[in-house]
Amino acid sequence: MKGSTATTTALQGREARRLSTLLEVSQALSGTLNSKSAFHRVLEILARHHGAVRSMVVMLREGGDLFIEASDGLDRPSQAVQYRIGEGITGRVVETGKPIVVPRVSREPAMLNRAARRAESDDQELSFVCVPILLNRRAVGALGVDLRYKAERDFDSSVKFMGVVASMLAQAVKIQRLVEEDKRRLVDENEHLRKELRDKYDFSNIIGTSGPVRQVYEQVAQVAATNTTVLIRGESGTGKELIAHAIHYNSLRAKKPFVKVSCAALPDSLIEAELFGHEKGAFTGADQRKKGRFELAEGGTLFLDEIGDINLSTQVKLLRVLQEREFERVGGVETIKVNVRLLAATNKDMEQAIADGRFREDLYYRLNVFTIFVPPLRDRKADLLLLADHFLEKFSREHGKIIKRISTPAIDMLASYHWPGNVREMENALERSVLMCEGQVIHAHHLPPSLQTAEASGTVTRVSLVDAVVAYEKDLIQDALKTTRGNRAKAARLLDATERILNYKIKKYAVDVRRFKG
Ligand SMILES: Nc1ncnc2c1ncn2[C@@H]1O[C@H](COP(=O)(O)OP(=O)(O)OP(=O)(O)O)[C@@H](O)[C@H]1O
Ligand SMILES: [Mg+2]
Repeated sequence: MKGSTATTTALQGREARRLSTLLEVSQALSGTLNSKSAFHRVLEILARHHGAVRSMVVMLREGGDLFIEASDGLDRPSQAVQYRIGEGITGRVVETGKPIVVPRVSREPAMLNRAARRAESDDQELSFVCVPILLNRRAVGALGVDLRYKAERDFDSSVKFMGVVASMLAQAVKIQRLVEEDKRRLVDENEHLRKELRDKYDFSNIIGTSGPVRQVYEQVAQVAATNTTVLIRGESGTGKELIAHAIHYNSLRAKKPFVKVSCAALPDSLIEAELFGHEKGAFTGADQRKKGRFELAEGGTLFLDEIGDINLSTQVKLLRVLQEREFERVGGVETIKVNVRLLAATNKDMEQAIADGRFREDLYYRLNVFTIFVPPLRDRKADLLLLADHFLEKFSREHGKIIKRISTPAIDMLASYHWPGNVREMENALERSVLMCEGQVIHAHHLPPSLQTAEASGTVTRVSLVDAVVAYEKDLIQDALKTTRGNRAKAARLLDATERILNYKIKKYAVDVRRFKG
């Protein structure tokens, strides 16, 4: 009776010790993502609380080799020891995924002595317990432990206990592999995105070699590396946004965010909250504090597109940011400092806007530190063919068509058109042509109706007579206005028409006369 109580107490003591060991093991494993050092700590715990004389964790590598990932109590430097799968006891455990117990190591011929378990002249008999580390029911390694030989040892219970430790090691391996995979995926993705960005906003991606464009490149190169505020001006579709990207991605801030705000797209009531952020409860619907674009661009570049459309009250706030580099969130009192480079773009006549009182002169001067004028397409005819080829290739690829060239009459049409919508219009025209084209050559009749003028005579056009006449008339008026630099009276005389008729047509065809001035 007394004896059995003693055994029960001993058993309970062993269970308690095992539980506390497992707790320590789990803490050692959760504390770090470095499995090598975590495994080493686990083996130390087994030595301390569990009488492990020596122990090791071997892991299976590609090719079927087993490497010692961590060891405790071994003499030789562990990296030097290597097994093959199926070789020796450990190799067999990994191969079969089943634990093996060697009660008396001295009597087991299969015991490889690689890990120098009996290097010291130690006569003491040892037992070896080796359990697999299973991931998705496949062995990815093994935990091997040398214990002092005891005739009465309950090996079943030892194997179970070591099995629990091994499954905890397996969890750690699983997490580490997931993390590594995630990391690799992120690194790959990042690399891919970087390359995409580089390709997209690389200088060399801005097509054009004409004089006016080269001047723009020079200006970009000159100003990119500085922190200067840049105002990019030019007609709609000339590539202002492309230039803004080129400045950012060629600046020292290239790795920091590039944040764009389309001032014209945001209603007046929202723009300040968008730019400067707002505090919780600043207005109805503001149920959370929100960072503004200025804060989001911290360290990088903020691009205010269509700045000419911004309202007067926001202009006052912008002026302060430009002067002091600080602001408050809407509904907030805390002053926020930012390190942001500003770029702005507009296709508006800013001087006129100032004269009309729609734009603050002081803000204009702050923005206008360095101005880049992006030339309209009609002033850079030399780039026309390059652009046409560029878009032809781009859209053929996108739409999976093999289109080899543009016919000479079609090229003539592209070259004689005045491109009021600039590069964007040309991009659209070529996309349409690619879609319309059923062969390998873009012909004149594939081009949009706006390009179909009498100059294209001799080609089969699919445009209605009315459309063609309208396009031709509009074209003539724009050309006359260009020649007379926007002077309507002179243009009317040039066209042998009255000023009244010319004004009527200008309105009807929505010709932007201001564009031809200056
Ligand atoms: N030099 C160029 N090379 C290649 N593509 C260009 C070039 N210039 C403009 N584009 C393309 O033309 C389109 C219009 O350019 P972008 O949006 O930069 O014009 P924008 O001046 O900002 O016009 P808007 O004033 O209407 O906003 C874009 O798709 C852009 O990629
Ligand atoms: Mg734009």
